Amino acid sequence: MTPVESTVASAPLLEVEALTKHYDLRGGIFARPAGKVHAVDEVSFAIAEGETLGLVGESGCGKSTLGKTLLRLVEPTAGSIVWRGRRIDQLDSGAMRPYRREMQAVFQDPYASLNPRMRAADIVAEPIRNFEQSGPAEIRERVAALFDRVGLRAEQMPRYPYEFSGGQRQRLGIARALAPRPKLIVCDEPVSALDVSVQAQVINLLVDLQREFGLSYLFVAHDLAVVEHISHRVAVMYLGRIVELTSTRALFGSPLHPYAEALLAAVPVPDPTVRRERLILAGDVPSPIKIPTGCRFHTRCPYAFDRCRVEEPTLKEAAPAHLVACHLREAPASVGPAIRSDDAQRGKATPNGGVPHG
Ligand SMILES: Nc1ncnc2c1ncn2[C@@H]1O[C@H](COP(=O)(O)OP(=O)(O)O)[C@@H](O)[C@H]1O
Ligand SMILES: [Mg+2]
Repeated sequence: MTPVESTVASAPLLEVEALTKHYDLRGGIFARPAGKVHAVDEVSFAIAEGETLGLVGESGCGKSTLGKTLLRLVEPTAGSIVWRGRRIDQLDSGAMRPYRREMQAVFQDPYASLNPRMRAADIVAEPIRNFEQSGPAEIRERVAALFDRVGLRAEQMPRYPYEFSGGQRQRLGIARALAPRPKLIVCDEPVSALDVSVQAQVINLLVDLQREFGLSYLFVAHDLAVVEHISHRVAVMYLGRIVELTSTRALFGSPLHPYAEALLAAVPVPDPTVRRERLILAGDVPSPIKIPTGCRFHTRCPYAFDRCRVEEPTLKEAAPAHLVACHLREAPASVGPAIRSDDAQRGKATPNGGVPHG
């Protein structure tokens, strides 16, 4: 069993192996490629039936590209996509059709992803018409049931997207994704544009729908707090690579990658008496056109040592079902500083003059 498989309880619905997407950079229309954007680099993970895998990382780290690549909305540069035991990364559009029905998406900006000139009922009916031979009466009934299920009212069916609030538009996007009875929904920052109170409602709706229909989700967010409630496991992504992959509980309880630790430090603690030391990230995310040598995170890592600058760490099991790509976690205790061994040490480790505070 590979480490990636060992973190999934049941047989995977979806498995990606070394999935890679590089975009060519061109200087002008006829110019030769001027470089490559390493949007997604050799990413491997699996999603089980009924499971939510959260995917977090700063803006630009490749989350949307990963989602689009596994949906075959963009062509992978390399790697494999296995859907219920069958490789689908090489299939042509005809052979992909049945799989397109089973994998749907909900995007961050429903206003951009829903056709503004279509009535809400038609937006939801469209995938049913595309994928099935249902008659008009049956479609109408299915659409009405979907409106009800996502918390929209029947009288909203003839309206246009602009007549809906942000949260309602996202419910409409969810109804459309549900319509062809998918097994997996890639939710790409579905609540990032919504008010906090509305975010919770939409997340709760997704959790209820998952239970009811046995759905799997890849749930993308740039904020760890958003994925905590909905995810069974979380993958942390940095500059095109997964740097940590484990259960939500293990990640929030004991993150092993310094980047995950930093993301977690930014999550507000509900109990004001609990102080969390703040690991402040230095500098900006490096360009995905010019990936740093060694560990991609070393330019911002407070714990980086010599090896990190030359050798890229691979994703390995550091604890049962807890994968991390960090030299600190694979080296013997004598190599490099220990992180998070106790609170005092964490306080001291606060990098680059960042003031530790809770
Ligand atoms: N069509 C494209 N052509 C070239 N570069 C792209 C394209 N789409 C995304 N990128 C680049 O790939 C990187 C990852 O982008 P994206 O997947 O959108 O990240 P995220 O969703 O995490 O914000 C970024 O540097 C982005 O500019
Ligand atoms: Mg994105």
